[in-house]
Amino acid sequence: MAEQLTPETPEESEEQPIQQRKNGLYPGVSDELAENMKSGWADTELRGLAPIAQAAHTADRRAALSARFPGERLVIPAGNLKTRSNDTEYHFRASTEYAYLTGDQSEDGVLVLEPKTSPDGTSSHEATIYLLPRSNRENGEFWLSGTGELWVGRRHSLAEAEQLLGLPAKDVRELAPALTEATGPVRAVRGHDASIEAALTDKVTAERDEELRVFLSEARLVKDAFEIAELRKACDSTARGFEDVVKVLDRAEATSERYIEGTFFLRARVEGNDIGYGSICAAGPHATTLHWVRNDGAVRSGELLLLDAGVETTELYTADVTRTLPINGTFSPLQRKIYDAVYEAQEAGIAAVKPGAPYRAFHDAAQRVLAEKLVEWGLCGDLDVEKVLELGLQRRWTLHGTGHMLGMDVHDCAAARTETYVAGDLEPGMCLTVEPGLYFQADDLTVPEEYRGIGVRIEDDILVTEDGNENLSASLPRQADEIEAWMAQVKQG
Ligand code: GLY
Ligand code: MN
Ligand code: MN
Repeated sequence: MAEQLTPETPEESEEQPIQQRKNGLYPGVSDELAENMKSGWADTELRGLAPIAQAAHTADRRAALSARFPGERLVIPAGNLKTRSNDTEYHFRASTEYAYLTGDQSEDGVLVLEPKTSPDGTSSHEATIYLLPRSNRENGEFWLSGTGELWVGRRHSLAEAEQLLGLPAKDVRELAPALTEATGPVRAVRGHDASIEAALTDKVTAERDEELRVFLSEARLVKDAFEIAELRKACDSTARGFEDVVKVLDRAEATSERYIEGTFFLRARVEGNDIGYGSICAAGPHATTLHWVRNDGAVRSGELLLLDAGVETTELYTADVTRTLPINGTFSPLQRKIYDAVYEAQEAGIAAVKPGAPYRAFHDAAQRVLAEKLVEWGLCGDLDVEKVLELGLQRRWTLHGTGHMLGMDVHDCAAARTETYVAGDLEPGMCLTVEPGLYFQADDLTVPEEYRGIGVRIEDDILVTEDGNENLSASLPRQADEIEAWMAQVKQG
């Protein structure tokens, strides 16, 4: 990778605007070259752009936010690039709150809702998006600055962004000074943009900002039509990614779990934006480690592969799907016994997902089935199922909650209050995972030796509908016979 041209000393960079830099400040840049680079460029402005597909939805989402915080300035940053090492950065992923409210994903972008009162006394807000505009070619910024478009690619002009997003757009470089000067109540989403937070230091409180974060988390509990379509896309791409993995299991056996990780990642990058979270490609005993993302282990015939992975769409909605597959295509009797127990628990959990049901019902239903199996297998001593559940002893092997809300974040709506989420009721438009599991650690002396090192999870993405639910990831088989038949068919190509 080429290095960017830099001024000879950092002081010169900070003190002198680009247009005042003279020949010699950039090594190898003559006055003639600097002059030459200013002109001879075509007008590429895009005109008559149609709004993005979700523009009407983002407007509705902003209207709901405006109604909740009348009379207050609201600041929602996209975030900035994060350094990976030296002068390389991680892939940028806009903050969920910003992307949800704007449909935009530009680094350094900020949405501001400015309060206003109409003549009849009604409170509302004027929304403005602050973005980095196109690079100036006159002052050299275009090719001499690290954010110059010659280095990072063409951005939309502010006029183009206005047409696409349905929002007035301004230069983000004017925002921090304006926020510093501004008076009146203000709230901001924290944790994404240090310079915006610095400009607001004396004006915001942690408690009031948290209320904004909670509102934006709870606003996403019920998905709109655009979001549901995106979650469908995410699940469909994810199913293709799982199929890709089954096709290359022999190559994974010859290498490692990394082959599985890379194979799924290819599908995620080609069809979507990214993976929605680190893929868990856990072969053999690694399946008992809940967040096994090192993925550097051996893949062996006769063992199980627990693959927990999700494609994030280009609009940043992610699937979260787990399948536990026999690496050689056939479950052993013991693997199948444990698999069938988890499958039965998942069936019970999915059946409990319906509008009006308490959120916790699906977890309770799945845990009961798993406790019954553990008692039946003699793993809980003399205790009956009710006692095991009362004491929570099944959790030694079930380990985690049975699911969570899903959306732009894999663990979506995480800042929602208990009463609206885990202690609330399900409503049509909510989307959640149902993902029971059983995990017998390799060093667990309380289970028969042959159980040790077996981990099984089955995870699907379930949309609450008006009259029940829909499994958005149903195109991937779950039942043991169907898994075997599907793997055989996929491997045959
Ligand atoms: N993949 C993380 C989870 O299932 O919650
Ligand atoms: Mn998962
Ligand atoms: Mn999950």
